[in-house]
Amino acid sequence: MSAPVDSNLFQRLGLKHPLIVAPMAGGPSSVELVAAASSAGALGAMGGAYSNAAAIEAFAVQVRQRTDKPFSINLFIPHSIPEVASDRVDRAVEATARYRQELELPSPQLEAPYEEDFDAQFEAVLGLRPACFSFVFGLLPAEHVRAAKKAGIPLIGTATTLDEARALEESGVDAVTLQGFEAGGHRGIFDARAADPEIGLRDLLAQCVGTIRVPLIAAGGIMTAGGIRAALQAGAQAVQMGTAFLACAEAGTSAPYRRKLLETPERRTRTTRAFSGRFARGIENRFMDEMDGKPEGILPFPAQNKFTRDMRGASTAKGSPDFLSLWSGTGRGELWQGSAAALIDRLFAE
Ligand SMILES: Cc1cc2nc3c(=O)[nH]c(=O)nc-3n(C[C@H](O)[C@H](O)[C@H](O)COP(=O)(O)O)c2cc1C
Repeated sequence: MSAPVDSNLFQRLGLKHPLIVAPMAGGPSSVELVAAASSAGALGAMGGAYSNAAAIEAFAVQVRQRTDKPFSINLFIPHSIPEVASDRVDRAVEATARYRQELELPSPQLEAPYEEDFDAQFEAVLGLRPACFSFVFGLLPAEHVRAAKKAGIPLIGTATTLDEARALEESGVDAVTLQGFEAGGHRGIFDARAADPEIGLRDLLAQCVGTIRVPLIAAGGIMTAGGIRAALQAGAQAVQMGTAFLACAEAGTSAPYRRKLLETPERRTRTTRAFSGRFARGIENRFMDEMDGKPEGILPFPAQNKFTRDMRGASTAKGSPDFLSLWSGTGRGELWQGSAAALIDRLFAE
């Protein structure tokens, strides 16, 4: 077995614990959660995907007002998709007309661009020089890899298969997050249209340890000290945990989402394309159940994500979980509602 190229990435970052509190775009990764995670000796991570450059900069300034500890910024790698044909939009409008009526929303106007300008976001990241830049949904283009290296920013890519991990390693990343099928939120699969390989974290780790030489970060369904220990024993150098932190006091998780997370310790989850056009794992709800039965009414990512934003916003405003993306992993058990620091202390108490 070959030794990792840079086994002390996490030591180099000065972390007390080999834990990344997952970047969770769309609200949960608040300034307070990122700062609290980093202050407590883990790596806090901003989920910047849905923020423009100015918002990313403002967020980082606020984190730095709260802590001088390292934190990372995370973005989605863009994939160009053609303008969505009008008949497809018509079908999506039709499939959701009833929901918009219920939510008292006007008929939607969907126009490109469907996502933030990645190059502008990335420029902001370069200027901010976070302790790490992590990304998901593919490879960072070579010129961006060079620019990050020149700025001294370590890179962390996300893989759901051994092939994706290999491609990331070859592209020059400093570490790879292995995202098992258990993980909450978007699946990091490079090709948004591909079938999900559905590889669980244990198998993915077993395939990559000894083959991938950069440090591996284990993600998906890890909720406890025992889960962390098992991942580290299986060869990961750090873990990334999202769901376990969703109900923490500092998390920006909305009230109806929080309620749903806390309702039962079992949290029945599955993956769906209904909210964004990309597979993502969340707690089953009405929108998921009904839309999964009408795939012709779901637009490709990221158009669907923009298309459903008004419904998600209105659902939150009404305090209803019915039309919300309730991202959550398969991990069971009651979620911690105290501070992130207290949860981190508990996880690393031994
Ligand atoms: C609410 C939520 C939002 C997420 N947003 C992102 C994101 O913006 N970028 C990213 O790389 N991963 C994102 N993820 C996935 C996490 O990075 C990680 O893979 C996952 O949380 C690990 O599984 P767990 O939730 O079971 O701990 C998100 C996860 C959740 C639960």
